[in-house]
Amino acid sequence: MFVQSTLTALSLLSPAVGLQSESRHRCAYGDDCWPSDNTWKLFNDTVGGRLIRSVPSAAVCHAERYNANQCAIAKSSWLDSFWKTNQTGGYAAMLWEMGESGKCFVDTSVRAPCDQGIVPYYSVSVQNLEDIQASVKFANEKDLYLVTKNTGHDHLGRSSGKGAFSIWTHNLKGIEWHDSFVPQGAPVDASGMPAVTLQAGEQWFDVYQAAAKKEVLVVGGSARTVGAAGGYLLGGGHSPFAHDYGLAADNLLEMSIVSADGEHRVINPHSDPEYFWAVRGGGGSAWGVVTSVTYKTHPVPQTLLIGVVQLNASDSSSLTDLLAGSMKLLPKVTDAGYTGYGNMDQRFEAIFLKPNGTVGSFNQTFAGFFNLSKAPGIQGAVGAYPSTWNAYLKTFLQDPNIGTNVQDTSRLLTANVIDEKAEDLAKLIVDNGGKGGFNFIGKVNNDERDNTAVNNIWKHSHALMSISIDWADNATKSEKHKKRLHAVMMSKNFTKIVGAEGGTYINEANP
Ligand SMILES: *[C@@H]1O[C@H](CO)[C@@H](O)[C@H](O)[C@H]1NC(C)=O
Ligand SMILES: *[C@@H]1O[C@H](CO)[C@@H](O)[C@H](O)[C@H]1NC(C)=O
Ligand SMILES: *[C@@H]1O[C@H](CO)[C@@H](O)[C@H](O)[C@H]1NC(C)=O
Ligand SMILES: *[C@@H]1O[C@H](CO)[C@@H](O)[C@H](O)[C@H]1NC(C)=O
Ligand SMILES: *[C@@H]1O[C@H](CO)[C@@H](O)[C@H](O)[C@H]1NC(C)=O
Ligand SMILES: *[C@@H]1O[C@H](CO)[C@@H](O)[C@H](O)[C@H]1NC(C)=O
Ligand SMILES: *[C@@H]1O[C@H](CO)[C@@H](O)[C@H](O)[C@H]1NC(C)=O
Ligand SMILES: *[C@@H]1O[C@H](CO)[C@@H](O)[C@H](O)[C@H]1NC(C)=O
Repeated sequence: MFVQSTLTALSLLSPAVGLQSESRHRCAYGDDCWPSDNTWKLFNDTVGGRLIRSVPSAAVCHAERYNANQCAIAKSSWLDSFWKTNQTGGYAAMLWEMGESGKCFVDTSVRAPCDQGIVPYYSVSVQNLEDIQASVKFANEKDLYLVTKNTGHDHLGRSSGKGAFSIWTHNLKGIEWHDSFVPQGAPVDASGMPAVTLQAGEQWFDVYQAAAKKEVLVVGGSARTVGAAGGYLLGGGHSPFAHDYGLAADNLLEMSIVSADGEHRVINPHSDPEYFWAVRGGGGSAWGVVTSVTYKTHPVPQTLLIGVVQLNASDSSSLTDLLAGSMKLLPKVTDAGYTGYGNMDQRFEAIFLKPNGTVGSFNQTFAGFFNLSKAPGIQGAVGAYPSTWNAYLKTFLQDPNIGTNVQDTSRLLTANVIDEKAEDLAKLIVDNGGKGGFNFIGKVNNDERDNTAVNNIWKHSHALMSISIDWADNATKSEKHKKRLHAVMMSKNFTKIVGAEGGTYINEANP
């Protein structure tokens, strides 16, 4: 609460005292203040030689960095999220390598331009806590433009930075299971609970595979390469299990972090309640560099019911009705414990999940969707089958937006907004040529909400709706700029519809 009220006070004060004037310029590559080669060389020695001159992921296919073998691998792995996230200067979406005007693409000729785009100039592939501390202290001393790059994808591009210095935590791996974890500094009579400690670079797919062997459940997201201990968690972290167990941040027991002064801190409710509150949803790249996190674990549900809804419309007016009609059914199915993901690009298409659910209860809860599938102008399929979490992981887990230039604007939808504004929301999608979807559907467990910095709107939300824009790599500069402005307009219209008191999931909203 303290942090929130301080921020509110600051934003009220700022017009008067000019706090919102120019943002401070940190030292970037090309500036006079940028350290000399020799200074970098000395710094490199302090981080065990792990300083990397980071370049875009297609640089191996061009001019001075051309490498036939590596270029062949880059071409064949271009849409492979595991390869992408292994690259120091690789970003899931090209947008966050190239920004609005950079050029370094995998499918152009060897002599075609390859510039740095907004890929950080230097990166440290940190291997331990000391590397992170040395890097933060160096950045502090030289006033460098510092970014933290964890792993996976980021809708906001927080891990990119033109001319920046990057701390890259992807290679910091390690998973440790606890039968009975007690946070440091807890009262002596505190009881332990089953938990897992993940080093900062762990990716969900690897964590899920390890958890399956251990026969426990870790509350994480529905993407494979996303970092289990980075911006995902710091922004809250939605999950197929959020209805039962809350967001990832709600499952956090302890975090190990290097703060801006280079100090290593173990934060939990006992050691520093306010700091702990802030890292639970207060946003990535804001509170320090995470080195490891400890999450509660849960029993794996015996079955996971998987429901599928696919409804097509015969024309654009039935499409608007279909999208609005489908949205209106979401409060009921999410209250009943279903979570899911959806697509509203020319149709309503969604997958729904419920731990321990049955086909019989699905049939009842989804009666509205069965009805909708029989409405005039709509052709559809609605159905469900019992499966397991492990089968879901193998079949459905994906990584979105690899190799694309996608930007999306989003809002969390309350039952009131859905009830009153479903038609307006459907029109917003149809008028913008489709490209709408639900990055998450679900009513999350909010038992821990007041102990976290997660936006309060999550308490009332039933779905996270997004609309995206994208462009081809070879789009002209003005075309890209126009599209980005269009996204800003969509975002403004979104606000008009949901109301100024609405909100969104900090990790999946840009603009
Ligand atoms: C850092 O040192 C290592 C080991 O000597 C070397 O391989 C690497 O190229 C150096 N990094 C930079 C950016 O010069
Ligand atoms: C990514 O790097 C890891 C560790 O070096 C390696 O095991 C894995 O095969 C790499 N994946 C790809 C797709 O290159
Ligand atoms: C599912 O059922 C199992 C076994 O009855 C139980 O342990 C688990 O808590 C249930 N999971 C959920 C999310 O309800
Ligand atoms: C659920 O509905 C489907 C489609 O109408 C039907 O085929 C199936 O038998 C129903 N199952 C149960 C358990 O009600
Ligand atoms: C489905 O349609 C039937 C028949 O029109 C109606 O009686 C029922 O109330 C509808 N159910 C839902 C959940 O919309
Ligand atoms: C909806 O349309 C898509 C694309 O035309 C098609 O593949 C799919 O089978 C259709 N689904 C239904 C339920 O009619
Ligand atoms: C962009 O590339 C596509 C093929 O990938 C090509 O069809 C199109 O003409 C190109 N557009 C421009 C503006 O170069
Ligand atoms: C935003 O709303 C205005 C007014 O309703 C409309 O004219 C405009 O086309 C909309 N723009 C977008 C991008 O949705």
